[in-house]
Amino acid sequence: MKLAKRAPKSSKKRGKKARHVKVSLNGSIFEADVEPRLLLVDLIRDVAGLTGTHVGCDTSNCGACTVLVDGQSVKSCSMFAVQVNGSKVQTIEGLAEDGDLHPMQSAFWENHGLQCGFCTPGMIIQASWLLKQNPNPTDDQIRAGISGNLCRCTGYVNIVKSIKAAAKEMRR
Ligand code: FES
Ligand code: FES
Repeated sequence: MKLAKRAPKSSKKRGKKARHVKVSLNGSIFEADVEPRLLLVDLIRDVAGLTGTHVGCDTSNCGACTVLVDGQSVKSCSMFAVQVNGSKVQTIEGLAEDGDLHPMQSAFWENHGLQCGFCTPGMIIQASWLLKQNPNPTDDQIRAGISGNLCRCTGYVNIVKSIKAAAKEMRR
């Protein structure tokens, strides 16, 4: 697979006019001066150092970069960092609370919802967002809800099983 060129990390290195970005990142204020063309996924990974959000395609196809922006599921390779100025951004690192895995994380663990794990952070973020929209989805609704997240390993059967298990747990 041909790797896409990554955006530069720092505006200062390229001498471009920096823009100040201030976000709530997993509940903590994070600020940085960035190039206007810096992608949100690069802000998260390269500037903030949160590498749980993955880059699989860089073309908004695979969903590995999925995060929440103000509660909405987005592919962070499809947004500029400056677009989230003033917003709340949640990544996979922000899902666990006080050291306890989120029910979706536990369900993926218990139901073998992953193999290589590359798609897993984006898949779990998307699945947790899906259950906020629909706490009791059918298999078809789950498959439709994660249709923008590609997994090359699992065949999706255990992913659907994991999401159903998490839904059951979260409805309790
Ligand atoms: S890296 Fe964003 S959708 Fe693939
Ligand atoms: S577990 Fe390998 S890509 Fe999904």
